[in-house]
Parts: sequence; structure tokens; C-alpha cells
Amino acid sequence: MLGSLKATLMLWVVLVTVVIAPVRLFFDLRGQLQRTSEAYDVGLSDWALALGNLVHIVDGRVQFDLNEQTEQSLRTSSTDTTYYIVLGPGGERLAGDAPLGAPSILLARGERRMFNTHVGKSPVRMAVHAVECGARLCQVRVAETLGKRDKARSESLALTLTLALVFALVFALAIWLVVRHAMQPLESVNEQLAQRSLDDLRPLRRGRMPSEVQPLLNAVDQLLQRVAADASRQRHFIADAAHQLRTPLTSLRTEAELALLEAHPPAVHATLERVHRSTQRVARAADQLLALARSEASSTEPGEPVDLKAVAQDAAQDWVPRALERGADLGFQLDAAPVRGRRHLLGELLANLIHNALEYATGDAQRPARITVRTGLRAQGGAEPRPMIEVEDNGPGIAPEERSRVFERFYRAPGSVGAGSGLGLAIVRDIARSHGATVELLDGEDGCGLRVRVVFLPAS
Ligand SMILES: Nc1ncnc2c1ncn2[C@@H]1O[C@H](COP(=O)(O)OP(=O)(O)O)[C@@H](O)[C@H]1O
Ligand SMILES: [Mg+2]
Repeated sequence: MLGSLKATLMLWVVLVTVVIAPVRLFFDLRGQLQRTSEAYDVGLSDWALALGNLVHIVDGRVQFDLNEQTEQSLRTSSTDTTYYIVLGPGGERLAGDAPLGAPSILLARGERRMFNTHVGKSPVRMAVHAVECGARLCQVRVAETLGKRDKARSESLALTLTLALVFALVFALAIWLVVRHAMQPLESVNEQLAQRSLDDLRPLRRGRMPSEVQPLLNAVDQLLQRVAADASRQRHFIADAAHQLRTPLTSLRTEAELALLEAHPPAVHATLERVHRSTQRVARAADQLLALARSEASSTEPGEPVDLKAVAQDAAQDWVPRALERGADLGFQLDAAPVRGRRHLLGELLANLIHNALEYATGDAQRPARITVRTGLRAQGGAEPRPMIEVEDNGPGIAPEERSRVFERFYRAPGSVGAGSGLGLAIVRDIARSHGATVELLDGEDGCGLRVRVVFLPAS
């Protein structure tokens, strides 16, 4: 069957119409032709009746008196030739056109009948009347060719076909409009679903939906509910798993640090170092998984007023000592940037950006790593200025073809240094998205390095 419901409906309506309409048309046309033909028959029969009145018996002999004017008016017609004949009781011609004499027809007293016959080669319609001639019966026959009847028939046919065509066009248009109107609710559901982001699992908007569509909406809503419940179960599972891993990982890391500080055989030093680094890496991945699960879980909570400047100031306390340790220059240019959001998540977002900058912009003696954190309002055309936070570094940057992929979970650009797990930018994007913010990856100031800018909705 056809893929489109609209096309299926239209096809069936058109098919049914195509079958029914000609039958209807045929009966209409037949009735109309019959009525026209009857009207002409009555006219012809009246002539026969009028001529019958001119038959008299005078002295026992049958006489027929037709004056010239009456005969002329009988025979005058723009389209047809008219014939008549008066036959005596024995079938002999008393007056009129001889060809009408055949065939002989038997009529009862007072009877009139209509016939289709021929005069020469022309088909004619003939009215025959029995007229009293004393005790016996005479006959008056009047016939006319079929010119006006044929004309009336073709006019009726043309009119009926024209009307049928106009009707078919109007009908098709009306059906198309009705089907389109009836399909509107399905299209609105379609639009709603197409525009949904994966995070938006709220029930569908109903509006004025017809009852036939309600079960579909209910089924979709139930499915969305189940998906939401399943997603929430998964988030909790990840959060629980990450949480469970944290404590043993922290003690493992402490043990490794202690072991490195204790006297140990030089042969195991390298191994201890590797254990320490791996534990650090796994502990950070567990922290990031926890952050990811939290950012998703809280994406529907309304936020509180937060100033990005304060978030950056908090981060400065954590990160300046670590930057110094690595010989990197971590600077801050902070202006007020009020947003609505969840402060701990915004802190997590910034931590991931600074961590990346420190990780990848390693620098060297001639060109030390330089990292700048900025907050403030950013004017965009004539629109209301929007709060933003950005982290810029002078490292290798991210190749343009990698820029869309680095936001994927567990994706690391080829040749990435350091001990990452590919979750940092995914967390940044998720937290930004849950705040209605967008993340842009841009080149650094002098065309090298990376500038990650997160632009928020105005707080008002
Ligand atoms: N500041 C940066 N400079 C250069 N490359 C970066 C920077 N930040 C992120 N990247 C690239 O993006 C990839 C994804 O980053 P991220 O999601 O934080 O994962 P991870 O840091 O664990 O590898 C990294 O592997 C790295 O290649
Ligand atoms: Mg990272």
C-alpha cells in the first residue's frame, strides 16, 4: 500500500468517485433525454390530434379539409422536415405524404401511439392517432426528422459533462482541503517530536487533538516516560558506580604516594610511579563520570543566580598553585557575568576547561604556557549582551576537522598527550546545555592555541 496516509485517503476517495460518478451521470443524462423526448412527442401527438379534428364524414364519405395556412405552419421548422398522412378506413391515402402510409398499423378506438420509423433513408419519430370515421376508424400520422432531438441530446450531453467536470474539480479540491485539515494534528505531533532534543522527555503537547490521535499520543508519552525512567536509572547507576570507586581509588592513590615516599628498592620505583599515575587517572575519570551523571540529573532543576566571576575566583584558588607547579602562567580577566544556574556544575565546567588548557598547552622555556580565564558580558549585534566565560591557551589548539568530535564522550583527538579519558569536553557541553548555554571552539588570540567560549542566556 502507499506510504502516505494522505495519498491513500485521496486515492480511495478518487477511486470511489470515479466508479460512482459515471453511473450517476448516466442515469441523470438518460432521465433528462427522456423528458426532452417526451416533450417533443407531446407536441407531435398534438399535431396528429389537431389534424384528426379535420376529418369529417360528409354524405357517408370521409373528407379531410386542411387549408394551406395550417399545412404551412405544420411544415415550418428550422431544423426538421415534417410529414403527415391521413388514411381512410381501408388504409387508402386521403391526404398527405405517401411514404408515411407504410407500414400498416392497427389501432384501437381513441388510441394514439408513437413510433420510430424511416422516411426514405431518414429516421423519423411518428405519432399515429385513430380517428373516428363513422363506424370505422381512420388514421392520422404525423412524423418529423430527428434534428432538434439530436441537437437537444448533444446539448444535454455537453452540459452534463461540463457540470460533471466542474463538480469533479470542486470535489477534488474540497477533499484535498479536508484531508489536509484532518492530517494537521499528525503533522503537529510530527513537528513536536522532530524538534525534541534528547534531554526533553516531557509529555507531548495536546492542543486540540482528535480522539483518533489520542491513543498514539498516549503511547508516545508512555514510551517517553519509560525512556526517562530508564535514563534516570542509568544515571543513578553510573553515579553510584563512580561513587563506589572513589573511596578505594583515593586510598590506592594515597598508598602509592606513601610507597613512593618510603624507602624502596630502585627496581620498583618506575613501577610505583606508573601505579601512581594510573590511579590518578582512574580517580579523575571516576570524578568526571560522577560530574556527568550529576549534570544530567539536574538538567531539569531551575537554577539560582550565580556570578561567573565568583565561579572563576573560586577556581583561581584551586588552579593557580597547580599552574605554578607546572610553570604555566594562569591569568584572570574577570568582569561580572550574572547567570542562572547551579554553581557546583559551573565550577566543574570551568575546572575541565582549565585542566585541558594546562594539560595540552605545556609550553617550554622560550614560550611558557599561558592561560587566560575571562568572564563578562558579550554584546552580540543589537541583542541583549550575554554572560560568557572563556578559557584561552597558547597550546597546539584543536584542528578544525576535530572540533565537532572532541565533544563526544571518551573521544580524544589523535596524538593527544597526557592522561585524559575523553570526558572533559563532553562534561563541558552537557553542563552548558543544561544551562541553555552554547560552547564555541575558537582559535587563540594570535591565531594559535585554543579559546573555548561558553555563552549563557541573560540572567534576567
Ligand atoms: N586546550 C586544548 N588544547 C588542545 N587540545 C585540546 C584542548 N582541550 C581539549 N583538547 C583536545 O580535545 C580532546 C578531548 O578533550 P577532553 O574531552 O577534555 O578529553 P581528554 O582531555 O580527557 O582527552 C583531547 O583529547 C584533546 O585532543
Ligand atoms: Mg580533558
